[in-house]
Amino acid sequence: METLRGIVLVVHLIGFATLFGAWLVEALGARRITRVMSYGLLVAGVAGLALAAPWGTDHEFNYVKITVKLVILLVIGALLGIGSARQKRTQAVPAAIFWLIGIGTVANVAIAVLWR
Ligand code: HEM
Repeated sequence: METLRGIVLVVHLIGFATLFGAWLVEALGARRITRVMSYGLLVAGVAGLALAAPWGTDHEFNYVKITVKLVILLVIGALLGIGSARQKRTQAVPAAIFWLIGIGTVANVAIAVLWR
């Protein structure tokens, strides 16, 4: 069970890396929203929900922290949706939406690692 939990954590981190990597490429490039960002968010979210249940570990869960991460994930999802709709209509993503996606992602990593 512990190994399986470890594997789900690896999948969670791959989802995060996919979201952040795709965003970083665009931050240094055309600043567009890409489908790869949504795939990363989906993978991180599904694996995160699986990790939020107490199995394969005996450590205590900080559910306030997990809820904050979930809310931020939902906000990032909404920004991806609104941003890509705008991109379709006007060929550009509002700068605030684009940057908030990256800031939200970094905030979730910081919360994951620093909030004990
Ligand atoms: C963009 C969104 C997210 C990012 C960037 C992210 C990032 C991370 C990172 C870097 C870790 C490893 C930290 C460590 O083990 O010290 C982690 C662990 C974890 N994440 Fe996330 N996360 C995200 C979304 C979520 C969501 C939505 C949930 C739950 C609803 C969640 C639940 C968890 C749990 C429970 C762990 C701890 C796993 C364990 O110790 O067994 N995460 N996350």
